[in-house]
Amino acid sequence: MKSSGVLPIVCQTPEETRQLGQRLGRKLRPLDVVCLAGNLGAGKTTFTEGVARGAGFKGAVMSPSFGLVRPYRAPKLTIYHIDLFRVSDLETGEIGLEDCFGDPNGAVVIEWAGAAKLYLPKDRLEFQIDYFKEGRKISCRALGPRSQDLLRD
Ligand SMILES: Nc1ncnc2c1ncn2[C@@H]1O[C@H](COP(=O)(O)OP(=O)(O)OP(=O)(O)O)[C@@H](O)[C@H]1O
Ligand SMILES: [Mg+2]
Repeated sequence: MKSSGVLPIVCQTPEETRQLGQRLGRKLRPLDVVCLAGNLGAGKTTFTEGVARGAGFKGAVMSPSFGLVRPYRAPKLTIYHIDLFRVSDLETGEIGLEDCFGDPNGAVVIEWAGAAKLYLPKDRLEFQIDYFKEGRKISCRALGPRSQDLLRD
């Protein structure tokens, strides 16, 4: 599969991580899928908050761990924030993920996407967030032309 990345970016503060997410959120289109990988507390939700802001969502953004999916409805796009931490492949069948991935007005940002493999499109954007000194190092890979487009300035 064709994939391409960009150089890792170091975000020294949560605000920088949010701003990076915001840049992506401004460009996100319906049916885009963004996967966020990284250890507990790496900054996946912080990044997602930026994405939601960039897409024009004004309300509260928080970890959906217990609800599993939080829809952030902005005027032009709904961002489905999904968190599958400790969710098994079997359980994902009960969450209604097909409604999120199939919403023609929605894009998906997903933390701990492992259990959603069946739902993920081949062409998606994958971020990896790692602890780096006092901040975080964020790397990104586009798995196809559609997601590659999101990385252009
Ligand atoms: N450069 C940074 N970028 C992002 N978060 C940072 C940074 N520096 C410190 N932090 C802090 O790290 C924490 C990141 O929490 P966040 O909930 O975003 O992580 P997460 O990856 O979503 O965790 P989880 O796996 O539990 O869902 C926050 O408390 C945030 O303030
Ligand atoms: Mg989180």
